[in-house]
Amino acid sequence: MSSARPESSRVSGSSAAPGAVVRVAEPADLDFVYEAERQAGYEWLVGQWPRDEHVAALAHADTRYLIASRPGGAPAGFVILQPLSDVHEGTKLKRVVVVEPDQGFGQAMLRATFDWVFDNTPSARLWLDVFTHNDRARHAYRRVGMREDGLLRQSYRMPDGSRADRVIMSLLRSEWPPP
Ligand SMILES: CC(C)(COP(=O)(O)OP(=O)(O)OC[C@H]1O[C@@H](n2cnc3c(N)ncnc32)[C@H](O)[C@@H]1OP(=O)(O)O)[C@@H](O)C(=O)NCCC(=O)NCCS
Repeated sequence: MSSARPESSRVSGSSAAPGAVVRVAEPADLDFVYEAERQAGYEWLVGQWPRDEHVAALAHADTRYLIASRPGGAPAGFVILQPLSDVHEGTKLKRVVVVEPDQGFGQAMLRATFDWVFDNTPSARLWLDVFTHNDRARHAYRRVGMREDGLLRQSYRMPDGSRADRVIMSLLRSEWPPP
């Protein structure tokens, strides 16, 4: 089914949540993005694009990269929003990566990202897909208010040729911020 896009209007600026600040990336940030998604073991958890694919995606009108930092700190994670704001499906968190996992930063980054999306786009919802085997990410997404919408069975070919299930998770504009 085709979809109308983009629905975006105001698409710049930064957002902050306790523990994290996100800002729109520039081309100079792509080295960080490229290295961050290539951390040991991450090939089983997230997609990894060649540099030219990142360069093309960053320039795309319907894509934004958000760079996340602790307040006053160096880049510590990133989120790719693609599509930025589809009129039907809203904003997809295409890739979510934290450099030093399991320290609480991912949840803060996600909260700042949700603020940015709902402040800067008209999206009615945001969503993502996550491997069923990625228990840490699924737990973090639930902790920040996302809900599971459904299962995409055997829907991704892994680096070793095996196939993995993915779960769709979403958050509605009406659910953010939580009460
Ligand atoms: C997913 C990711 C962004 C989350 O960021 P993070 O900084 O690690 O997340 P946080 O530390 O804020 O929260 C992690 C939570 O998962 C929990 N957790 C850790 N390992 C877990 C496991 N194996 N099973 C279930 N929960 C787990 C932690 O206890 C914590 O929950 P809590 O706050 O209730 O104690 C980060 O781990 C990451 O970049 N992972 C590699 C790439 C990836 O998987 N990206 C997501 C693709 S959809």
